[in-house]
Amino acid sequence: MAKASAPAKAILVGEHFVVAGCPAIAVALDVRARVEAETLPEGGVVEVESRELGKQTFGAGSLPSSPLYPVYVAVREVLKLAGASIGLKLRIESEIPPAAGMGSSAAVAVAAVAAVAKILGLQLTSEEVSAAAYAAEVQVHGKPSGIDNTVSTLGGAIYYRKTEGFRKLEADFSPIRFILADSGVQRSTGELVSRVLALKARRADILNHVYEAAASLVETARGAIERDDYAALGELMNINHGLLSAIGVSNAKLEELVYAARQAGALGAKITGAGGGGMILALAWREDAERVARALAGISPRVIIAPVSQEGVRIEH
Ligand code: PMV
Repeated sequence: MAKASAPAKAILVGEHFVVAGCPAIAVALDVRARVEAETLPEGGVVEVESRELGKQTFGAGSLPSSPLYPVYVAVREVLKLAGASIGLKLRIESEIPPAAGMGSSAAVAVAAVAAVAKILGLQLTSEEVSAAAYAAEVQVHGKPSGIDNTVSTLGGAIYYRKTEGFRKLEADFSPIRFILADSGVQRSTGELVSRVLALKARRADILNHVYEAAASLVETARGAIERDDYAALGELMNINHGLLSAIGVSNAKLEELVYAARQAGALGAKITGAGGGGMILALAWREDAERVARALAGISPRVIIAPVSQEGVRIEH
């Protein structure tokens, strides 16, 4: 038996603008998905079980319609790397709310890859772990950037730009906490991305300036993170929220949450991810986090306080 866990992610700055080639920064949060793997006597079958999604058995020729199929895809990648065809049973336990923009599918895939590699005695590099999980993400999201599986594998803060790939930022996040609050409004990331791109095409002369501002904001935020300057980072998150409102992905509920967080003493608060619903992300000093969370709890169905997880995927003992 082997067990591994991997952290959730939140986009700190740059969502949407990243689609058009601007940089973005995401952080790993200490809210984790755990996967336990054991071998089965029958070769070639992979049984995957989660409390929310039930149990499903996969093998050659399985159809990709099950929501657990991506986990099988990730496991198959590891079996391929090992040249093995043993049977496996995987049990998923996740603290990460699904479909909330927190990278739950990627964290499950990353943890599954690590647990299966461990059971096979296979030493994988973090690139290999992330790549195997990316294969699962392609099943879930079509053509994802790869930021979720990268953050979940490496932990900490990750700077990303399409033309440059991923880079880990060194910072001491111990004085701060992130607070996430759910708007309770369902949204479709794909639909919002299309809507933003359509607006960008229609109002190119104006929005090009907004995109330029977003790119320069992310560069400034990278500097603030590397200097552990969280007052500056909070201010930049607030400006980033304004830019996201400008491209049309905010709404009354998200604004209510953002303002409540700021009024309760957050250093900054913004939409995180696609917007239109989903979560807001607030930054606060560690000692202020409870107060911010309490203010949000009255108006949000789900509030999470999370420190940054410097550690990415890890084997659990
Ligand atoms: O759906 P989320 O919260 O993981 O974030 C989507 C982020 C976008 O920038 C809007 C889209 C993308 O693919 O980067």
